[in-house]
This record gives sequence, C-alpha cells and structure tokens, in this order.
Amino acid sequence: MEVLASIAEVRARLALVRRGGGTIGFVPTMGALHAGHGALIERARREPDFLVVSIFVNPLQFDRRDDYEAYAVNLPDDLEFCRARGADLVFAPGPEEMYPAAQRTFVEVAGLSDVLCGRFRPGHFRGVATVVAKLFHIVAPDRAYFGQKDAQQLAIIRRMVADLDLPVEIVPVATVREADGLALSSRNRRLSAEERCVAPVLYRALEAARERIAAGCVVAAEVRETGWAMMVQFPLMRVEYFEVVDPGSLASVERITGPVRIAAAVWVGGTRLIDNVECNAASCDIL
Ligand code: PAJ
Repeated sequence: MEVLASIAEVRARLALVRRGGGTIGFVPTMGALHAGHGALIERARREPDFLVVSIFVNPLQFDRRDDYEAYAVNLPDDLEFCRARGADLVFAPGPEEMYPAAQRTFVEVAGLSDVLCGRFRPGHFRGVATVVAKLFHIVAPDRAYFGQKDAQQLAIIRRMVADLDLPVEIVPVATVREADGLALSSRNRRLSAEERCVAPVLYRALEAARERIAAGCVVAAEVRETGWAMMVQFPLMRVEYFEVVDPGSLASVERITGPVRIAAAVWVGGTRLIDNVECNAASCDIL
C-alpha cells in the first residue's frame, strides 16, 4: 500500500493506473477509521478497481472550531486499518496541501444544503461538497463510496455529480451499527459511560417511527411525535430535529405515500449524533 500526501504525486500515480487500463475506486474519509468506514472499503474492494482511500480532516466543513480541534485522528492506526483491508493507495494530505491559499471557490448544492443538518450547521455542506469536488478532481475515480449514515451528505454528493456531469458512479453503503443499534461514528468515543447508555435511544426512536409508518400511519406529524415522545423522556438527550423527508429532495413530507427517510439529530451531553432510516408507506409495501 502506498501513502502519498501530495496532489501532484497522486495524479502521477493514478495516471499510470489508468494508462494500464485500470479503473479507480475511491473512499473519502476524515480518518479515525472504524467498522463503518471498513464497510465502505470492503464494499469497494469487491470491485477490481485500484482502491484509493483519502484521509483528510477538512477544516472547511466544521462550523465549530472546538469540534475541528477535538477531531482526533491517529494516522498510523488509520494506515494500518486501510492496509489490512487491501487499499492500494492512501492519500493523506495536510491542510496546506488542500488549501494553500484561502479557498474562494465553493460548491453549493442549493436547497439540499440548508435543510436538516444544514439548518443547524451553516456552511457545513458547502465545505463537504467543495472538498469532495476537489478530491474527485484529484483522484478522478470511476466509483466512489459513501455511507447511508450521512444520508443528507450522500444526497448532496449525488446531486452535485448529476448537476456538474462528473463522470463518477456514487455507490451507497448501508449504515453499520453497534449491537444495540447505535450507528458507528468517530464521535461515539466522546460519550461518557452514562451518555453511551442513552445514545441508542436515537435509533430506537427512528425504528418506532418506522413501525408507525409500517402499521399504516400516513400523517408525518404523528410519526414525528412518536419519535420525539421517546427521546424527550431522556434528560441527557436534546433533540435538534426529527423529520420525515423525501429521500431525493430532502423536502419535509406531510402525507406519507411512498418511500421516505426518517432523519434525526440529537445532542447527548456535548456530543452531536445523527442517524436515519429508510422506509416506505405501508400501502406501497403491499403493491
Ligand atoms: P467521515 O465522517 O470520516 O465518513 C467517511 C464515510 O464513511 C462517509 O461516506 C460516511 O457516511 C461513512 N460512514 C461513517 N460512519 C458510518 C457507518 N456507521 N456506517 C456506514 N458508513 C459510515 O463523511 C465524511 O467523513 C466527510 O464529510 C467526507 C465525505 C470525507 C468529506 O470530508
């Protein structure tokens, strides 16, 4: 496995791969790798592509400086993680390589970026779309892998790729969870023992909402109420949003007549957690 930190070197190496007829698979990450990232790498490894993983904690997508500074990445551990899963190349640039001067050009996916998490994290998705566009230009992958865990990010990247005619196939990968349902996240390690006990309530509330829909409820307000009611019982948990949205446009729905995504963000103590589940109107399951 090769490890490169410079854009020029990555371009030169990948030009050789392409000249040899190879295709390129790409898993962008911010490091602190866990089994959720592992699922993306393992899924990508099933293709014959030359597999590139990037590790870059992107300052542009952090709306709070303390969150950026608390983002603990251990590069030697992450490199070992990638090596053990068969990555061919890790691109691990420093901030000065990705942003040698203040960034003045941004990718803004209007409409999708200011709902759900975007309402509470101004500029976050602009930072994500901009860095992913830069990484796509550097790596020029044939396929890129993104987790459903960050469903809004996935929808935004898909829309960016469509709108800008980028020649890359976006492959979604299902959310990896702990046995109690908590979605794996690098932020989980910031939870105290007590907070960790409460954290799975987020997934349980999403599941309860999904069951409500499966049982035939079509009124999104009632589904939302089911989720909120479960979470407000826990004083350690503060709900930021709990929404039923269209999976493509991310617009809130009032009546559930087809596929929807139930998405939520909560604070557990000082840690912000997000999660989501897919579901379909009960009437559609029968068809
Ligand atoms: P990061 O949070 O490191 O996540 C990298 C990828 O791993 C994302 O596609 C994310 O959805 C996926 N992932 C994280 N936890 C997961 C889980 N429990 N199950 C499945 N997939 C999971 O997302 C980012 O980094 C950044 O925004 C990035 C796209 C790299 C741009 O900076």
